[in-house]
Amino acid sequence: MASESLQTYQMYIDGAWVEAAGGETFESFNPFTAKPWALIPRGGAEDVERAVAAAHRAATSGDWPAMTASQRGHMLRKLGDLVVDAADDLAKTEVRDNGKLLAEMNGQTRYLPQWYYYYAGLADKIEGSVIPIDKPGHFNYTKWEPLGVVACIIPWNSPLLLMAWKLAPLLAAGNTAVIKPSEFTSASALEFMKLVEQAGFPPGVVNVVTGFGPEVGGPLVEHPKVAKIAFTGSDRTGKLIYQQAAKDLKKVSMELGGKSPNIVFADAHIENAVKGAVSGIFAATGQTCIAGSRLLVQESIHNEFVDKLVSLGAQARMGNPMSLETQVGPVTNIPQYEKVLGYIDIAKGEGAEAVLGGGRAERPECGDGWFVEPTIFTGVRNDMRIAQEEVFGPVLSVIPFKDDEEAIAIGNDVLFGLAAGVWTQNIGRAITMADKLQAGTIWVNTYRAVSYLSPFGGYKHSGLGRENGQQMIKEYLQQKSVWIETSNAEAPNPFVMR
Ligand code: NAI
Ligand code: MG
Repeated sequence: MASESLQTYQMYIDGAWVEAAGGETFESFNPFTAKPWALIPRGGAEDVERAVAAAHRAATSGDWPAMTASQRGHMLRKLGDLVVDAADDLAKTEVRDNGKLLAEMNGQTRYLPQWYYYYAGLADKIEGSVIPIDKPGHFNYTKWEPLGVVACIIPWNSPLLLMAWKLAPLLAAGNTAVIKPSEFTSASALEFMKLVEQAGFPPGVVNVVTGFGPEVGGPLVEHPKVAKIAFTGSDRTGKLIYQQAAKDLKKVSMELGGKSPNIVFADAHIENAVKGAVSGIFAATGQTCIAGSRLLVQESIHNEFVDKLVSLGAQARMGNPMSLETQVGPVTNIPQYEKVLGYIDIAKGEGAEAVLGGGRAERPECGDGWFVEPTIFTGVRNDMRIAQEEVFGPVLSVIPFKDDEEAIAIGNDVLFGLAAGVWTQNIGRAITMADKLQAGTIWVNTYRAVSYLSPFGGYKHSGLGRENGQQMIKEYLQQKSVWIETSNAEAPNPFVMR
């Protein structure tokens, strides 16, 4: 395809649309056609420098820090309204660049404004307190202040949603942002900046620098004027960023994926549990951090359950993600496509049996796209790599268990702890499982439910900090304690603590 037919994008730095300082671009692919469709500026250290300088200036001077919290909330609300109007277009951009289903993205982009509305409402409800202090003649109060410049590093699997989880609260708290979208899916963040511009945020408050991890993410993480890094992505990159952030004690919050157990007891509502297993692993082509990629099935129903699951999985309609009928779309990018196929080979080599799928999809409706057949492995032991490592694709490992204790032991026997599903009609069992499973989110008789209202984040290697809900706004604030002597009495012995 000739490059002049590609849609071209610019970055958004300091309220202006700009090329990369080096003038370079890179192609973004449509995973359904396997062809490039857009040209994205290939940013580097110089662009990061410009963006962080702008964000730092905007955080410390001018209109943004002068605004009241209510005014910030009003601006976020306006942004939410603009997202409502743009939702359908944003959905199509995500589908084109990412391969996500239009059927899912229509819902997701229409839901997106809720994050901006919710944190708009919270902006002017962040209150300090007056401490009933024990030191006579002193008045002591606390207040919450923004951190400054927040670097948001976003993955490709749900770009606009995972950006909103960071951007809405950090702006409500009065910070400024430099956003680095994934090199595989930069277009939607840039489309979104048109709305940020229309909403009237002062220049420098929100910036986007596009490009590759080491070229843009690296300098951003190392920049001394960045106060905090909010990251979603792989555990490998997350751990690297955490080490770099330690050098200048930057704050971090990170969400690093999972290997979540989806646990089906014999007393479950079986038909619903089958659907829950499918939504846990085949929805979003398995490219979600919350994928229920380990299906733990009680021995007594194992074979019957697997049969039902295979017959439902076999009916999944693959093909063009723009079609509302499609249920399983392509894998988002070539490295991921190869990674998923590689894990299928690893599982076979480890002795697991593919009872559904087990390779690339060769269906005519998949065209040249990067499609993997929905795949179910039985005969998986929890110590196999296929059961321990995040595949991030439509590949399920089925593991039998005897009783509650064994389900808990297997469920927790991974480095990750992002989510877990439990399927049972026994309320006592449900509550006990929710207590014992080491994960930040537990779903009972449901799966893949998330909301702006409810905290989300990982135990163990799945991350640090939480996103969503009221409490998490504190992740973008720091607390100050102010002491005032009120008695005007003569100062006591200065050589001892007051
Ligand atoms: P990644 O973690 O490398 O990429 C996430 C973001 O970090 C991207 O914006 C990337 O450009 C940036 N980045 C990469 N290297 C960086 C560095 N040195 N410094 C700063 N930023 C950097 O993930 P990638 O390569 O896209 O996918 C690899 C695997 O990660 C997937 O196969 C999947 O298993 C997992 N993953 C997990 C996600 C989650 O939601 N937990 C999301 C996406 C991927
Ligand atoms: Mg793309």
